[in-house]
Amino acid sequence: MKDILADKNIVLGVCGGIAAYKSAELLRLFIKKGAKVRVMTSKSALKFIGEATLAALSGTSVCSDLFDAETADDGAAIKHIEWAETADAVVIAPATANMVGKLANGIADDALSTFLLAVTAPRFICPSMNTHMYENRAVQRNLDRLEQDGYAILEPGSGSLACGTVGPGRLPEPHEILALVTAGLTPKDLASQKVLVTAGPTHEPLDPVRYIGNPSSGKMGFALATAAADRGADVTLVSGPTVLADPPGVELVRVKTAQEMYTAVMERFADLDILIKSAAVSDFRPDTCCDQKVKKDKAADTICLARNPDILKEAGHAKKQQLLIGFAAETEHLEIYATGKLKEKNLDMIVGNLVTQAEAGFQADTNQVTLFFKDGTHATLPLMEKAQLAHVILDHIRQLPAR
Ligand code: PMT
Repeated sequence: MKDILADKNIVLGVCGGIAAYKSAELLRLFIKKGAKVRVMTSKSALKFIGEATLAALSGTSVCSDLFDAETADDGAAIKHIEWAETADAVVIAPATANMVGKLANGIADDALSTFLLAVTAPRFICPSMNTHMYENRAVQRNLDRLEQDGYAILEPGSGSLACGTVGPGRLPEPHEILALVTAGLTPKDLASQKVLVTAGPTHEPLDPVRYIGNPSSGKMGFALATAAADRGADVTLVSGPTVLADPPGVELVRVKTAQEMYTAVMERFADLDILIKSAAVSDFRPDTCCDQKVKKDKAADTICLARNPDILKEAGHAKKQQLLIGFAAETEHLEIYATGKLKEKNLDMIVGNLVTQAEAGFQADTNQVTLFFKDGTHATLPLMEKAQLAHVILDHIRQLPAR
């Protein structure tokens, strides 16, 4: 499956602000996803970032002047019109107060602002400026107006800015802008669906500093939650301990133990359309948890275990309208064990994950899985990025018979 940005024509607009240096990294990320990127800058942007850098990274000349014949090497005689007509998306990063003001008021006095008036494709504005400028009522009014006019606005981050002020105004990181654009361009085929995804490991404490756990990073579950949210679903992500950043547009419930995960899932279960359980839940917990760190000379040689609730199995018994998707992390006999769990837990589909394979399973950015269905069929998928796999899994879920 291709990335949503693959082969898309993206015009990256760069304005004159200190954050212009980040546009080079953003451009690189778009190209890495297979997009074709053309860069248009304001005149002052080129005081902050070199034209040669943007041209080298995009593989084509940069347009900064409506009347510059030398920039017409891509055959576009009237660039602002030709680029506007062929663009699948336009991203302005960074967008200065000046550019925001011009766009909000329909002013076209340079290449970028003229081009933007001719664009009908989705437009993403990433404002970045001094905090007082950003909070200025005129700028806020202009941003509100742009939002009403259908521009997607990415709120700037907060922190210590290059100009010395502390507060909002920082251009979000290139990967955050990439996520916004990806979400904005993804078809909303899961709109109105309530989806709950579980992710990560559970930690079952022995004492305040020790626990029973497993190596799950949460990447698979976070990728599924992000993909479902990008596709318009109303997503809750119940995650065990991970170091991953909160995915945008998702309700995130952080838990530690299997029992906490059980409560968080079952409280929400009745209203769900789809439950996807990619979390690696510990089947057992220590039957007692000491209040203080256990001293090694006083510790027993054995740990007594109590069984945790099987969340998915209970959901399988309780299910009505919900589609239930499980994962099976196995080290051998994938088909036998995965299909056993499919039946035992009353699932609609199970994702069989042979975690001993290279680049697959725990912690990797990629995964290779086989999907097993209730009718006895299966689909073995190739190794791919977890972000991409998440979309393929959702495609299969959409094709499951409705309950
Ligand atoms: O997080 P990553 O590093 O990206 O790794 C991804 C992954 C390897 C964790 C993921 O792809 C995966 O395989 N998840 C399932 C792990 C697992 O616990 O499998 P299992 O076979 O033990 O459990 C079967 C199913 O029952 C799972 O959907 C599990 O969430 C669920 N279960 C298990 C035990 C329990 N007490 N309650 C449950 O709900």
